Amino acid sequence: MKRYTINPVRYLFVVILLLSSAGGCSNLQTNTSLYTDIGGKEKLEKVFGLAISRIYNDPILYPHFKGVPKKALRKKLVDQTCALIGGPCEYTGKSMKKAHNERDVTEVEFYRLVEHVQYAMRRMGLSYQQENLILQKLAPLKSDIVYQNGEGNPE
Ligand code: HEM
Repeated sequence: MKRYTINPVRYLFVVILLLSSAGGCSNLQTNTSLYTDIGGKEKLEKVFGLAISRIYNDPILYPHFKGVPKKALRKKLVDQTCALIGGPCEYTGKSMKKAHNERDVTEVEFYRLVEHVQYAMRRMGLSYQQENLILQKLAPLKSDIVYQNGEGNPE
């Protein structure tokens, strides 16, 4: 019967290959950011343009946005997401706590809004993976946006 032994030279080669490809991945992330991969600011503007029109047409969410100018909100969402995913933008809007404080945003509303963003990303041609990477960046904002324990989300 043939015996399989580990050739140390080949083993070392595989380890080096794995390590270098792992490094390659992180290089890929920094050299070509997710922002560039998805198509930059133009794509983000399209995504949030569609997401916002759905949000303003959503009977559950709209009451929060009554009187909030769409264009200004879109710019802030674009800049914020752009900065979160490695783009050359500076978010100059309010902190998430400040923007949502005293609005009593519920968890259900949060997920509903995120679903509109997710729908828009899909419609605008982002891959499933790109979509998930962006959602991973937005998810940690939840605790500053959602109203908690009847005490709001104080500053
Ligand atoms: C991932 C989820 C969310 C993100 C990333 C987000 C992000 C933002 C940003 C960047 C602004 C602009 C802040 C500024 O004016 O300087 C904003 C404002 C606002 N957000 Fe959110 N938001 C989210 C969820 C929600 C939800 C679920 C609601 C309500 C149902 C909501 C209601 C509002 C309202 C009404 C404003 C306007 C505030 C104002 O002009 O005074 N947001 N949000």
